[in-house]
Amino acid sequence: MSKNKSAYFCQNCGYEAPKWLGKCPSCGEWNTFVEELIIKENKSVVAFSAESKNVSPQLIQTIHQGDEQRIELKDKELNRVLGGGLVPGSLILIGGDPGIGKSTLLLQLALLDNLTTLYVSGEESDRQIRMRGERIGLMNDSCYLLPETNLQNIVNHAQKLQPQLLIIDSIQTLFSSHIESSPGSISQVRECTAQLLRFAKQTNIPIFLIGHITKDGSIAGPKVLEHMVDVVLQFEGDRNHLFRLLRTIKNRFGSTNELGIYEMSGSGLTQVVNPSEVLVTGNASLSGIAIASTVEGMRPLLVEVQALVSSAAYGTPQRSSTGFDAKRLNMLLAVLEKRCGFKLGAKDVFLNIAGGIRVDDPAIDLAVALAVLSSNADLAIPKNVAFAGEIGLTGEIRPVNRIEQRMAEVEKLGYKTIVISSYTKGLTKKMKGLNVVTCEKIEDVVRNVFG
Ligand code: TYD
Ligand code: MG
Repeated sequence: MSKNKSAYFCQNCGYEAPKWLGKCPSCGEWNTFVEELIIKENKSVVAFSAESKNVSPQLIQTIHQGDEQRIELKDKELNRVLGGGLVPGSLILIGGDPGIGKSTLLLQLALLDNLTTLYVSGEESDRQIRMRGERIGLMNDSCYLLPETNLQNIVNHAQKLQPQLLIIDSIQTLFSSHIESSPGSISQVRECTAQLLRFAKQTNIPIFLIGHITKDGSIAGPKVLEHMVDVVLQFEGDRNHLFRLLRTIKNRFGSTNELGIYEMSGSGLTQVVNPSEVLVTGNASLSGIAIASTVEGMRPLLVEVQALVSSAAYGTPQRSSTGFDAKRLNMLLAVLEKRCGFKLGAKDVFLNIAGGIRVDDPAIDLAVALAVLSSNADLAIPKNVAFAGEIGLTGEIRPVNRIEQRMAEVEKLGYKTIVISSYTKGLTKKMKGLNVVTCEKIEDVVRNVFG
């Protein structure tokens, strides 16, 4: 007879406790413990390290490197984000808000490449998926659909079919009959992922898992998932905008600095080869617009910063920022007040990064400051000027990384001038068509730009 056992799990971090707790001792969240029943059927579940086989320690030099062949995908952006192709036997987790396009991305992958693919969906029927395929406008004869949520059945089918690629949509809908708790609970998600990991390592079949994001933005609630898988990708972007960014959060086989950019169209996701051209509209002879040369991951990206400064209608001025950290905006405004005589107490400030993307690169500071000043004075920044610099608390312009890459992108898009820090080191290559203005302080920039 199997013996029932229950335990309490923190739904945020996966911490296990024998009793209910109000506050999780591991992650500090309140009221996250839920009782989950565990049935330990038998101890037949072995770790993927093949305990049963006779494995002995080996010298690293003598390990056969193998022909670690990566599978090159037709989707260039996905290839790049994975670090140059799909590694056989890897377990890849893709997280993202609902409706962002995770299922679309992976179905497209299944239909674009001629790999034998098993697409398991616990969320949609096979007819719905077929309809999506029609919508994307792709069809092939190597994609198998399986609407199923029982993990053991999925593994059986996969063993029979021996696909070259397995896609699970989504990990939260799966359940393993070894465990009694409901699908989506921590112990189920953890157990299913562990079994899939074992399956991937044993069969060398790469597996994509789709994971839903919880309210606080982490994938599937538990951080435990991120530890287990080889690659964690995040699909993000504003649902109301066209762009979708695919970021690498963790990658055991490549750099985490990669970024893939897609555009959601009426017929699926299309790759954006030159994002700067799309993000910058070019009608920049209006006040309140500044062009920033940013780097997202490894990719240079020009973005348009828009600011609107108006007199505060009520006593307290409003600050609103989309796509840029609001605290950082407040700090920049304080620097502008101190250094450039910008009276912030009486002004509303609204800031927006065009295209619905979020920028964390500090190099955008200078463009933000200039956009605010430009809107405040109602003076347009001359066309063909781009900015790249971080602003310090004393108003000094600090140098930023990858400056040559930024300059090359700015030049490529036909800009004539770039404003950077005079502390920038290692400027070896001279740009022919680009006028480089170096400034020490924010006051210098203002003088240079507005005369
Ligand atoms: P979906 O892949 O279902 O999102 P997720 O799996 O992340 O929840 O994508 C859903 C959205 O994408 C939906 O709102 C419709 C939109 N969409 C398009 O705009 N064009 C298309 O060709 C497809 C397939 C979807
Ligand atoms: Mg989906």
